Amino acid sequence: VSDQPAKPEPTLATLLQQAVFRIADQSGSARFDAELLLSQALGKPRSFLYAWPDHAPTATVRERFDQSVSARADGRPVAYLLGIQEFHGLELQVSPDVLIPRADTECLVEAALAVIPPDRSVRVVDLGTGSGAIALAIARARPQAQVMGVDVSEAALRVARANAEALDLQVDWQAGHWGDELPAAGIDVLVSNPPYIAEGDPHLPALRHEPQLALVSGADGLDALRHIIADAPRLLRPGGHLLLEHGWNQGEAVRGLLLAQGFSEVETEFDFGGNERVSRGRLA
Ligand SMILES: C[S@@+](CC[C@H](N)C(=O)[O-])C[C@H]1O[C@@H](n2cnc3c(N)ncnc32)[C@H](O)[C@@H]1O
Repeated sequence: VSDQPAKPEPTLATLLQQAVFRIADQSGSARFDAELLLSQALGKPRSFLYAWPDHAPTATVRERFDQSVSARADGRPVAYLLGIQEFHGLELQVSPDVLIPRADTECLVEAALAVIPPDRSVRVVDLGTGSGAIALAIARARPQAQVMGVDVSEAALRVARANAEALDLQVDWQAGHWGDELPAAGIDVLVSNPPYIAEGDPHLPALRHEPQLALVSGADGLDALRHIIADAPRLLRPGGHLLLEHGWNQGEAVRGLLLAQGFSEVETEFDFGGNERVSRGRLA
């Protein structure tokens, strides 16, 4: 029998402090990440942490939190640990089979919505749909549109389907290599956020937990964009729109590819960070 006083169980405030210390090297938002992971381990909203900082959670909760903090300290993105990511006002399920939708991709959604009339049944296709983020955001904002999402990854399409079901949105999901299997001249608006990072890019190690298929596209990062732009005149109806996300330094190259394929109204829009991010063209 020990005559030492029992060590007090750690409180939420203490656990948070320790976690922030462990993940600070991996995350620019260590405190926020730690709060999200602790809320998840507790099964309580984040506000609980502020209301009850002196609460001492059970050993099970501590163990669950410790595992997710270790994974975060190893660089695993917080969205994969939570299994959800917010995108364009939608709560999307995400898994390591899909790219975590980025805020900048909302610029692509906005650019697409600007050319999709709310009152007509236009045909919209999202190539490389991943979690379904773009297709679902468009389907929600334009209920009249007929939206299709295509991906080469069956695992990604499973995530997209689950998202559509959870959000009660209607999208036609199709497996395929870009638009190769789609019929000619059937599309009014073609959107894509394809992989666009060059092989060997120094940023890739930081993205090692996300699917390489979603990130990397050839020696200069432009292989997928070249393929999609080359096939778009076949896929689009006359007057149809093509909108593409690309790397911050690829605007000029993408505009060149669009012009070379005969697209008109070619221009590039900027993302929230002021970088060239979305280029577009219209089929004459
Ligand atoms: C950058 S991610 C975009 C995911 C999602 N659209 C988004 O914006 O979050 C690119 C997607 O393209 C898919 N992809 C890669 N190669 C493909 C191909 N040959 N045909 C169709 N999809 C492909 C990947 O599986 C991945 O889901």
